[in-house]
Amino acid sequence: ETVTALIVAAGSGTRMGAETPKQYRLLAGKPLLRHAVEALIAHPRISGVRVVIGNGQENEAAQALAGLDVGGLITGGAERADSVRAGLDAIGEGVVLVHDAARPFCPPEVVDRLLDALAKADGAVPVLPVADTLAKGDSELRGTVNRAQILRVQTPQAFHLEDLRYAYEEAGSSAPTDESTVMQQAGLKVATVAGDESLHKLTSPRDWERAEMMLAARMV
Ligand code: C5P
Repeated sequence: ETVTALIVAAGSGTRMGAETPKQYRLLAGKPLLRHAVEALIAHPRISGVRVVIGNGQENEAAQALAGLDVGGLITGGAERADSVRAGLDAIGEGVVLVHDAARPFCPPEVVDRLLDALAKADGAVPVLPVADTLAKGDSELRGTVNRAQILRVQTPQAFHLEDLRYAYEEAGSSAPTDESTVMQQAGLKVATVAGDESLHKLTSPRDWERAEMMLAARMV
């Protein structure tokens, strides 16, 4: 079966406060997007990698991905769901692994766990437990949430393409930000597999420093 990794990199990435979208910023000398692609492209069970970029990001993307075999670049949209839809329109049949460009590291074992889980489910996502106490509140606490029932959901997220396309059709224009949510809302079954701390999404400058330290220490 064909397994396509679809890396969404069409965000403006401005939460970091920088001018360059974060997916093109250098992490240990290499664009963040390139790290994300390289983490998946060598996996023996992945047939190919495709990348969704923002309108106007063609030059930065071509530079960041020079020499990597990612086919034609796909143009995304205003919301993440628009970018995923554009990707789904551009690829064929089989299985898709939707992945964030903002996650530079992906252990190959996570991909294996996801693809194995797909044998018995419509989709599969990597999850981690929550370590801190979770509570509702503002300037004072207004109730603690039972964290045993709460999971942190990461990417890559694996789906049978026909299921994910169906789920987006059902969602119409009001698609939420995450594919696993779209799937559940369409009544499809999404299995969980063990995620990995190294899959952490780079959001703050602090995340960036931590990722550089992990690379320097050869922890990833
Ligand atoms: O902003 P956030 O970190 O949640 O974005 C997650 C991923 O989705 C990033 O890789 C980003 O580039 C991508 N994205 C996209 N199209 C958008 C918004 C976000 O491809 N319109």
